[in-house]
Amino acid sequence: MKVEGNKSEIYSSLIPQIKALVGDEKDLVANQANIAAALKEAFGFLWVGFYNVREDMMILGPFQGPIACTRIQKGKGVCGTVWKTKKPIVVDNVDEFDGHIACSTLSKSEVVIPLIRECQVIGVLDVDSDELAAFDQNDVLYLNEICEWFVSTL
Ligand code: SME
Repeated sequence: MKVEGNKSEIYSSLIPQIKALVGDEKDLVANQANIAAALKEAFGFLWVGFYNVREDMMILGPFQGPIACTRIQKGKGVCGTVWKTKKPIVVDNVDEFDGHIACSTLSKSEVVIPLIRECQVIGVLDVDSDELAAFDQNDVLYLNEICEWFVSTL
């Protein structure tokens, strides 16, 4: 899945491709795996993946990138904070985020989007960059569109 252009152009081109790729497939792991791969391939982000809520923990789901921690508690790190607050978070510098869970020392900035179904967070999409301040509200907008659409397919 190769797309070119600025970020908005890449997202605009990628989103229909992701929708086509998922198609009628309902399997959570298969679809999260392909969404993570599509985002990683299109943008070259350091790490793209999902954490899924399982009872009182979030557990690592399909991802692309360096190995990552497997379990995150509610309220812990960026992902756990997004689970708790139900709101996306953009972190320009992970070293300045209190409680950031450092899975890779290469990670410098990140954006985390909640997957919300019937007002409950069922997981998060976590995207990490090896550059500072790699994400802004434009990423939130497009990634949120992907996440909302993904949840609607479940
Ligand atoms: N960045 C996350 C931890 C997960 S890894 O970066 C893949 C956090 O602090 O929530």
